[in-house]
Amino acid sequence: MTTTRTAAVPGLAGEILAGYGDRVHVHDLYDEAGASVYHDLAAADTSEIRELTRAVRAVPGPVLELAAGSGRLTLPLLALGREVTALELKESMVALLKERLAEAPAGIGGRCTVVQGDMSAFALGGATFAVVVLGTTSISLLDADGRAGLYAAVRAHLRPGGRFLLSTVDVDGADGDDLDLEAAGASGRRYRMIEHWRSGQEVRKVTILPPERETPQDGPVPAFTTAIRVLPPDDLTRELASAGLRVVARHTLPAASPRHTDVLLEAEAA
Ligand SMILES: C[S@@+](CC[C@H](N)C(=O)[O-])C[C@H]1O[C@@H](n2cnc3c(N)ncnc32)[C@H](O)[C@@H]1O
Repeated sequence: MTTTRTAAVPGLAGEILAGYGDRVHVHDLYDEAGASVYHDLAAADTSEIRELTRAVRAVPGPVLELAAGSGRLTLPLLALGREVTALELKESMVALLKERLAEAPAGIGGRCTVVQGDMSAFALGGATFAVVVLGTTSISLLDADGRAGLYAAVRAHLRPGGRFLLSTVDVDGADGDDLDLEAAGASGRRYRMIEHWRSGQEVRKVTILPPERETPQDGPVPAFTTAIRVLPPDDLTRELASAGLRVVARHTLPAASPRHTDVLLEAEAA
């Protein structure tokens, strides 16, 4: 379990959590304690699925999905009738994904191979794929070295004529207050999500905590954090080109919030 000090949480979320003193337990969103929160939110989130599956449908053949998490995109990809290899770093997420696949009809779950691995350095025994998918703007979890490793590994696993589909997010208008939203998980549980970012900062910090009215009077107050890099699509397109991956199509996705623009990029080996 990752527990950090409240002082490490910036902005509005840090101020709110400081009010709860040492009752606060801060976890990484993708660690053991956070995985169930992520999964609850992900299970209620349909963003990108339609655009991604449409782009995958256009390129027949097996699919490699990177940073698969608990399978939010994996299941819709399997529903296209493809063989899917799902790669994910965290053991807690791999376990959730395997559970979901075991619950899916055999004809679906049986077409998925789950691999625990790092998307910035993977080698899948010579296997190649028609499509490599990296959705949910997860490229922003990698630093520059990690992204260089990712591009090299993607090129090594793409078939000739294959596509690398990845989403990223542009952020603007962030010099005022922190973005403060409430979202419901698939269980009906509600979460307050606060994003802290100022123009020019490389990373935006997202903190998930219980809405004030649902915060317990006593006992632990759980909070979950993740740090997400800001990688505007134009910068990413240039970076991909210098790594030998040419962007051939770009689709703007429905807005996730007033200050975010999500974009799906389609790249091929140059
Ligand atoms: C934003 S979530 C997206 C998960 C899933 N695609 C979805 O849509 O719900 C990002 C996922 O990337 C995983 N991850 C983080 N760093 C990774 C890495 N270096 N290699 C593979 N997976 C990674 C996290 O554990 C998490 O499950």
